Amino acid sequence: MRIKPLRLGPVTLPSNVVMAPMAGYTCYPFRMLCQEMGAGLCFTEMVSANALKYQDRANRQLLFTTPAERVKAAQLLGGDPQIVEKAACGPLLAGFDLIDLNMGCPTPNVFKSGQGSALLADLPRAEALIRACKRSGKLISVKFRIGIRADEPVAAEFARMCEQAGADLISIHGRSRSMMYDGPPCWEQIQLAKAAVSIPVLANGGIASPEDAAWMMERTGADGVMIGRYALENPYIFAQLTGRRVVKSRSALLLEQMALASRYYDEPFVLSYIRSLASYLMKKRRGTKGYKQKMYQCGGLEELETLIRAAFREEEPL
Ligand SMILES: Cc1cc2nc3c(=O)[nH]c(=O)nc-3n(C[C@H](O)[C@H](O)[C@H](O)COP(=O)(O)O)c2cc1C
Repeated sequence: MRIKPLRLGPVTLPSNVVMAPMAGYTCYPFRMLCQEMGAGLCFTEMVSANALKYQDRANRQLLFTTPAERVKAAQLLGGDPQIVEKAACGPLLAGFDLIDLNMGCPTPNVFKSGQGSALLADLPRAEALIRACKRSGKLISVKFRIGIRADEPVAAEFARMCEQAGADLISIHGRSRSMMYDGPPCWEQIQLAKAAVSIPVLANGGIASPEDAAWMMERTGADGVMIGRYALENPYIFAQLTGRRVVKSRSALLLEQMALASRYYDEPFVLSYIRSLASYLMKKRRGTKGYKQKMYQCGGLEELETLIRAAFREEEPL
């Protein structure tokens, strides 16, 4: 695929390959890894606008960043424009350059409360949320699905609304809420949405190789791609796409993530994050069988480190 910088107002993203926001994974250490690999942008996982008023430890952890993160992007989940505006203008988001509004989360609790993908059926509210967020003066992006049901797509109409409300960027997950995370993405809907707007569009869903990324760009005409689960399995995808040379084995990468996470987060968080990331990195890897269970049973970080070294002992040097 053609790699190019993406201009968003005063900010230029170094590349048009972007890491998707993912709950449980896109903490500060993982975002730094993606940046190093060449990703142009990485978002925090979704943070509830409602919960931000508490400024508690959990939210501060989710929104932790440092000046080393070049472009800082936080994702907000909310359904009430006033609450979202307060969160966007509040102290916890003060250091962020960009706020992404989650309009795609399919989970029943989120949907029932009128947030996430429920907004695909409530354009006036979605528009009010974007306008409210825009009052923070930050760059605003919106991540949404093609519709609630696959046979009632709204992607183009929704994209137009986002642009009119002032969004600077949109990311479209080419699946409907009813498809959850499975099935081939409907690239035609992303193509229609791209043709309907002039702001940059990122295409997301089912990209599992550099060839898939090129295919998605070609089919949709999108300005860039956003990669989710496959980037957890193979974070090197960003280096493969951008041509960046990264010499770091999977085990070295995991141990580095563990060290970085330990510097900023408490041990339960680090254990949970490293176990989950290791599970993805071990997918389809020779010699790693049985280690996932052992890692979930182990008691602490030292033991986890030993297991990581053992699981990847057959790893070929890069
Ligand atoms: C474990 C997991 C956590 C996710 N968390 C978020 C999230 O916090 N915010 C969001 O907008 N999407 C979230 N998503 C959706 C992804 O960002 C992405 O849109 C989806 O996985 C499709 O891309 P993929 O096929 O490349 O994985 C999550 C997906 C998974 C599997």
